[in-house]
Amino acid sequence: MSLYKPQTVNCNGETFKVYLSEEKIRTRVADLAKQLNRDYSGKKPIFIGVLNGAFIFLSDLLRHISIPSEVDFLKLSSYGDEKVSSGEVRDLKDIDANIEDRHVLLVEDIVDTGLSMKYMVEKLEQKNPASIATVTLLHKPEATRHDVPLDYVGFRIPSLFVLGYGLDYAQEGRNLAQIYILDEGESRSDHT
Ligand code: IMP
Repeated sequence: MSLYKPQTVNCNGETFKVYLSEEKIRTRVADLAKQLNRDYSGKKPIFIGVLNGAFIFLSDLLRHISIPSEVDFLKLSSYGDEKVSSGEVRDLKDIDANIEDRHVLLVEDIVDTGLSMKYMVEKLEQKNPASIATVTLLHKPEATRHDVPLDYVGFRIPSLFVLGYGLDYAQEGRNLAQIYILDEGESRSDHT
């Protein structure tokens, strides 16, 4: 079975083009895992994935992790079905694990304004972990308004909407094997 990786894709009436190839993502994810294996050697971190977006990134990342580790998930909602952040974060699911005195690696698909990451770090800190580090596959530095420490970043990208590899647009497009970016020229001409 081949992976689903078209050159362009139409999602909810907007056109997206390939921005990060499957190979680029694969190489970078393996690099990040190598760094984590080194930095957490001798420890047993718990990876906390942020649902839904981080499920593909975390599952690929974990398959390169060679140190003892555990996994849990939490779920937030901030975007609804829109392409811009609502500016509000809602808790949809908390973690099940007890993270007191544990080394936590909080894994996100993307940091845009930074609101969600900041909210989650502050929330998890209240559970008294030994440490918290943040891991994000993508970061939009120009859009980030909240002061949040990003410890492991896969790619820094422009402030344009992206899709695929777990990231959605109104819940669609998570199944794409590459990361796509809004093709502004194409989308505009679609509407005229
Ligand atoms: P923030 O709170 O503004 O940093 O937004 C973080 C969340 O918004 C991410 O976990 C994603 O779910 C979503 N998000 C931000 N930018 C994008 C994007 O370009 N495509 C898809 N989802 C995004």
